[in-house]
Amino acid sequence: MFIESFKVEGPNVKYTDNEIQSVYNYETTELVHENMNGTYQWVVKPKTVKYEFKTDIHVPKLGVMLVGWGGNNGSTLTGAVIANREGISWPTKDKVQQPNYFGSLTQASTIRVGSYNGEEIYAPFKSLLPMVNPEDVVFGGWDISDMNLADAMVRAKVFDIDLQKQLRPYMESMVPLPGIYDPDFIAANQGERANNVIKGTKKEQVQQIIKDIRDFKEKNKVDKVVVLWTANTERYSNVIVGLNDTMESLLGSLEKNESEISPSTLYAIACVLENVPFINGSPQNTFVPGLIDLAIQRNCLIGGDDFKSGQTKMKSVLVDFLVGAGIKPTSIVSYNHLGNNDGMNLSAPQTFRSKEISKSNVVDDMVSSNGILYEPGEHPDHVVVIKYVPYVGDSKRAMDEYTSEIFMGGKNTIVLHNTCEDSLLAAPIILDLVLLAELSTRIQLKAEGEGKFHSFHPVATILSYLTKAPLVPPDTPVVNALSKQRAMLENILRACIGLAPENNMILEYK
Ligand SMILES: NC(=O)c1ccc[n+]([C@@H]2O[C@H](COP(=O)([O-])OP(=O)(O)OC[C@H]3O[C@@H](n4cnc5c(N)ncnc54)[C@H](O)[C@@H]3O)[C@@H](O)[C@H]2O)c1
Repeated sequence: MFIESFKVEGPNVKYTDNEIQSVYNYETTELVHENMNGTYQWVVKPKTVKYEFKTDIHVPKLGVMLVGWGGNNGSTLTGAVIANREGISWPTKDKVQQPNYFGSLTQASTIRVGSYNGEEIYAPFKSLLPMVNPEDVVFGGWDISDMNLADAMVRAKVFDIDLQKQLRPYMESMVPLPGIYDPDFIAANQGERANNVIKGTKKEQVQQIIKDIRDFKEKNKVDKVVVLWTANTERYSNVIVGLNDTMESLLGSLEKNESEISPSTLYAIACVLENVPFINGSPQNTFVPGLIDLAIQRNCLIGGDDFKSGQTKMKSVLVDFLVGAGIKPTSIVSYNHLGNNDGMNLSAPQTFRSKEISKSNVVDDMVSSNGILYEPGEHPDHVVVIKYVPYVGDSKRAMDEYTSEIFMGGKNTIVLHNTCEDSLLAAPIILDLVLLAELSTRIQLKAEGEGKFHSFHPVATILSYLTKAPLVPPDTPVVNALSKQRAMLENILRACIGLAPENNMILEYK
């Protein structure tokens, strides 16, 4: 059974006019490697840490500024939210299609809240805590192409033609602000569309981005802004001691107009200086160590990298299943071909390399979790190929072959073939990223023994479910397995309303 909303009543939660306060007993373990009469053994000691959470319930008017607003993802997300807000439906050859948010964790997935008269009860994920309604978001942003969003939607070739026609009046007046363009960082084939660029030194460009954010906030009367990079994949920046390895070196390099600071890092510097959350939806290392340092010093949320939309999402489910079932994946080969502008940009070796790196580590945590299947340091062969095939447009093809060793020397090969519009996978993820980033800035917590409430670590691990190569704080393990990432997010939000994690024990029925 499905319920729209609920309220928690109990000793661990209190609702005030301004916040939800909760107490949560975090059941965890402590491991000790003990010498017992000359032999070492592992001892696991259960421990409970009491946490307090408080969540500001005032949902702000939110502005979302996309870098690469006029791209396939940017125009698709903007059009989709308008269609939902305005209730625009459109005829297809099958039926009259209604707008929806399918693919969005916050808007289209549910959580189990309990059982009632022997029936399982589910509620929307978004009913866990007060969140911004996507239809109240004001969209804006930058693009190095000056095309308005209506024409950009046509260029993207993602929406059905009738929907495009109905959306045009809403999107024609939306024109991206000039962006920071540096041909050294993206493929040469992007040069043609770069007709809308900010001039000046790198420092002046950062100042312009700060001004743009302030003007956008003022003009649209929004309380908060989140910025998200959905522009082209850049090549990796070189990380060099004295250049970008610390906050001081990075800001010093900005003063010196050093060429190795990428456009995406410049936008990120502007956002962190302005205390505006910045999320990177592409694979490059925007978050060089100096930028992470800056974000930590300024306590400004940063999150990334690279939307986990299709092939990698599947990989982080399938390998988790195989390794969890005691089956040993030994070879994973992933081919992609796509024909949109992202594919054209990725046809250059340096930008492809960023994507290859971001896609490559996704099974590491699962492999290292099973020392029965794998020797220390052993990995499955893992190859990723991406080809640009203009004809298929945004309708990306992903073909994967997983070969595993099974019982008694047997081999098992699974082949997947996935076809769908890439931007229709990415757009709902962008929505989740900005809504959850905003929400997480309203949550404060403290563990017992800590004097004061504080926000989450500025490097937003909580967004891991949505990214291919989750950015985590120094010395924090990376979790790639999709079900663990989802459980982490859901359980933290449950803790904020005094609910225990969903443990799937269903003892009620035993
Ligand atoms: N679609 C997916 O499923 C998916 C998944 C993971 C990651 N991504 C990443 O998302 C990004 C966007 O994908 P897309 O399909 O929308 O690409 P796209 O090429 O259609 O859009 C990117 C836009 O960014 C603009 N741009 C480039 N550099 C810029 C800069 N420095 N400042 C401002 N604008 C700039 C371009 O003009 C273009 O309009 C890509 O890096 C892609 O790898 C996409």
